[in-house]
Amino acid sequence: MQVTGGVAVDRWLINGRAGDSVPVDDRGLAYGDGLFETIAVRDGSCRFLDLHLDRLESGCKRLGIPLPSRTLLQAELRELIGAEVHGTVKIIVTRGTGPRGYQPPEDCAPLRALGLASSRPAKLAPARLRYCDTPLGRNPSLAGLKTLNRLEQVLARAEWDDPEVSEGLMLNDRQEVICGTRNNVFYTLADTLCTPRRDDGGVHGIMRAQVLRLAQEQGIPTSQRPTTRADLAAADDIFLTNALTGAWPVAELAGRSYGRSRVTEAVRAGLVKLGVGECAE
Ligand SMILES: Cc1ncc(COP(=O)(O)O)c(C=O)c1O
Repeated sequence: MQVTGGVAVDRWLINGRAGDSVPVDDRGLAYGDGLFETIAVRDGSCRFLDLHLDRLESGCKRLGIPLPSRTLLQAELRELIGAEVHGTVKIIVTRGTGPRGYQPPEDCAPLRALGLASSRPAKLAPARLRYCDTPLGRNPSLAGLKTLNRLEQVLARAEWDDPEVSEGLMLNDRQEVICGTRNNVFYTLADTLCTPRRDDGGVHGIMRAQVLRLAQEQGIPTSQRPTTRADLAAADDIFLTNALTGAWPVAELAGRSYGRSRVTEAVRAGLVKLGVGECAE
């Protein structure tokens, strides 16, 4: 049995065929040379699929990985999901196999692996956060991408095993808060919805983009900015976002409790209208 994001993957399509193995000389395995998407399946379809495929497409362009055809991916996703109603889809695209050495082969045949885990959306209790010690590197050439290189997150997540702690926040060497190990971070300061900038680290999250768009549509001021621990200590509230959980309210960070601000309630109501309402209460 294989596991992704805490739930067992039921089936994989590797380059369009049912299977669960990849070549040992795949560059995704050797170097993390590739990208992935984690997508919520709700009512039989991939939520925000176009946005996920747009991000995959722009990530492949930035890394110089030939792009799998969008129509092909859509057809394979339909085949993979079949009659499944709720679950999680993972798309992995790597540069494919290659000879030894970092230099990307001129003619590469990318590998695509599509996995489905069936699971019902979980109701989550408001999150209790900690700060992680593992620093996040700053690198504008990878910033925003959902690459297969997740060692920083692996080390950060290994820092705690207390089941009461839901998520850890990660900072760079300038002591700027960038993200959680698997979430983006929002907070309200003086009626402005703020989130860490994405210039040299973190992921251009699908749910982050939805939240920013909804806030702008509702006339709520937004700010993508350098974020410190002091900003979060002074915030009216904090919430986390990712494609599976939507907006996840934070109950506690560094000994302080948080409630919900008017701004966050307005954004959450907007998400519910988009069908993203299953998260914490
Ligand atoms: C490090 C990190 N940041 C942010 C996110 C949120 O991105 P998205 O909204 O696309 O799920 C994730 C999701 O897995 C993540 O791993």
